[in-house]
Amino acid sequence: MDLDELRPDADRLWNGIEELSGFTEPDHDGWTRRVLGEPYLESRGWVAAQMAGAGLQVHTDAAGNTIGVLAGTEGKASIGTGSHTDTVARGGRFDGIVGTLGAIEVALRLRETGTRLRDDLVVIDFLGEEPNEFGTSCIGSRALTGAVSPDFFDRTNDDGRTLGDRLQVAGFPPDGMLGLRWPAAPLRGFVELHIEQGPVLERTGTELGVVTAIAGIERVVASFLGRADHAGTAAMTDRKDALAAAAQAILTVEQIGCSGENSVATVGTVHVEPGALNVVPSLARLWAEMRSPSPDWLGTARRELMDRFAAIAAERGIEVDLRRLTDQDPVPTAHSVQDLIADTSDDLGYSWRSIPSGAGHDAAHLAAIAPAGMIFVPSRAGRSHCPEEWTDREDIARGAHALAATLVRMDGLALERDPR
Ligand code: GLV
Ligand code: MN
Ligand code: MN
Repeated sequence: MDLDELRPDADRLWNGIEELSGFTEPDHDGWTRRVLGEPYLESRGWVAAQMAGAGLQVHTDAAGNTIGVLAGTEGKASIGTGSHTDTVARGGRFDGIVGTLGAIEVALRLRETGTRLRDDLVVIDFLGEEPNEFGTSCIGSRALTGAVSPDFFDRTNDDGRTLGDRLQVAGFPPDGMLGLRWPAAPLRGFVELHIEQGPVLERTGTELGVVTAIAGIERVVASFLGRADHAGTAAMTDRKDALAAAAQAILTVEQIGCSGENSVATVGTVHVEPGALNVVPSLARLWAEMRSPSPDWLGTARRELMDRFAAIAAERGIEVDLRRLTDQDPVPTAHSVQDLIADTSDDLGYSWRSIPSGAGHDAAHLAAIAPAGMIFVPSRAGRSHCPEEWTDREDIARGAHALAATLVRMDGLALERDPR
């Protein structure tokens, strides 16, 4: 077919992004649609309606994934696409949203051009891709690919509540998530459209990124347990200050992050008790993560982090409780899917370059069950997870066009699973 016909309606897609961004916590900078929060739950009804409006058969699975299926003429296999619509707190309008609404736009264009695929097209808005207060991420895509076990739901937040309890109350009992399977005919391949969230495409003046690999992530929560004392009367030498220990630990994480090629490490949030100006802190809990394309580096870095945290606590005569939260191995994308995206981009006349992803994505989990790949579009100044996150309308349209054309070419194609 003439791939040009699949060009999206750039204004419709852009207006959808604007409309979805209206579901946000009020009185905040930026856009906040945290998983299971009210704006998020409301917005998912809107997403489901968009899917239905594009002619998809919509349902929500046991893991809270919103799934729209466009039946193919043969339906012996399926091809998948989609992303997420939750955000970090005070985040942007494009992370995840571009890939979800871009996928719905593909379905609309297929219908408008009278294009029938042989395979079923499965469009998914995955539940909760961003890390939540329990330190877990990609709930929906992990569950859908069989990557959750009962202990996944035992993770606790700072109030001691478990993820399983929170999901149960939200109407997604963990039992239903265990044993969840791909909802359609066997998955032939999966492609996720996403913003780059880094500076490379913009700096090099490249229109599209063909993702080669998704970085691995190790997350650890460390609770330093000291002793509360009067901040005026407890001598400096007599204190067991949990927050001072955590401060040392945070600098250790920064040092570890600097120790590997293309590797990073961050403490993004700290919880302190009792949290009063005039009381020596008795508890400091920090949530740390390390990312790298190298599984070896990740393993070594985690062990080093654990050892050094234990040493910091021992030196100060306090306790530390160390827990590994989630780990995600680095995931190479399938070379067959990379080639398909690259060749299709050439045919559409879009410039592209191969690019690794430092961010985590649902596609990393889908790669466990099918050949998977990703298409990136440029992010202004590489900014993301902040209100300044921005991608131009034309860049989003190019990405959605490449996504549509790639999926049409994937229809009925036998794809190799092997990473390059
Ligand atoms: C998701 O955006 C992540 O990379 O943490
Ligand atoms: Mn994302
Ligand atoms: Mn994100």
